[in-house]
Amino acid sequence: MRNLAVLTSGGDAPGMNAAIRAVIRTGHARGVNTWGVYQGYSGLIEGNFKRLGPRDVSSIIQRGGTVLGSARCPEFQTEEGIELAIRRMRGAGIDGLVVIGGNGTQTGAHALHKMGFPVVGVASTIDNDLYGSDVTIGVDTALNVAVNAIDNLKVTASSHQRVQLVEVMGRKCGYLALMAGIAGGAEAIVIPEVDLAPEQLAERIRDVYERGKPHAIIVVAEGAKYNVEGLFQYFREHELLRGFTFRSSVLGYIQRGAAPTCADRLLATRLGSEAADQLIAGHAGVLLGVIDGELAMTPLEEVVTGKKPLPPWYLKAAEMLAR
Ligand code: F6P
Repeated sequence: MRNLAVLTSGGDAPGMNAAIRAVIRTGHARGVNTWGVYQGYSGLIEGNFKRLGPRDVSSIIQRGGTVLGSARCPEFQTEEGIELAIRRMRGAGIDGLVVIGGNGTQTGAHALHKMGFPVVGVASTIDNDLYGSDVTIGVDTALNVAVNAIDNLKVTASSHQRVQLVEVMGRKCGYLALMAGIAGGAEAIVIPEVDLAPEQLAERIRDVYERGKPHAIIVVAEGAKYNVEGLFQYFREHELLRGFTFRSSVLGYIQRGAAPTCADRLLATRLGSEAADQLIAGHAGVLLGVIDGELAMTPLEEVVTGKKPLPPWYLKAAEMLAR
């Protein structure tokens, strides 16, 4: 391998910059030319790439977001788009690509691999819904942001004896809500993976006050059947919990833009560096992640079809711990 490129795609995640830096510096140390692709797969199709050396990635390890930019690219879902991207890379002499991102991104990486282009994926998404890694780059930071917010909201909810709903991101996956809810000591957690009718939730909230608590913190996943807005509406329409005072906060993108925690920087550095080394050693078509605390390589074919379950112990213990 003579020319190695790296791109970030899909939703940005804290730690992506640390991964980019590790790819570039490892590639350089191994004596290959290193390139950055701008704006994800759109940049591949447009030939928007540039040689990057070790000094070009100085002082980015501590920054959130991605210095390469990111995009969602419908054209890359077509065979013509992928072929054009490969032609562009080959035209520049690029013969290997590290792709940093979540589910959609690794589906694109798999498509490139199937067309014969050497690619290695790096597991990165705040949602933690990617098969092939117990934890993905960005999750730790997003969780810390959510837990800090919950801590603050609890203070005010307690002062005013209110019910506080907090919505966290995660697309169709309840991981962030479950783990932030447990770490933040929430009274209830609403996630897509568990059926919880608004009537049952209302009952639980009533019970919280009957047991003498001065507040009820309800963490809601954005992908749950009823998100925060849906729950508000349902409670109002069905006149549930009349007399209780509610407030809501939707954390949204605040969870994505933070500076990466130490854990995310270290994870991203390890995965980025290993991805470069694996590609240089000729091992392509895999995702780099961590399973049971060890570095793991999972074929992209499995990554795009596999479904990652929520951590069973936390899922089972959540309700008991909330009491
Ligand atoms: O996948 C990361 C994520 O932040 C999800 O939690 C959220 O549903 C989605 O991206 C938002 O996507 P966009 O940045 O395209 O609005």
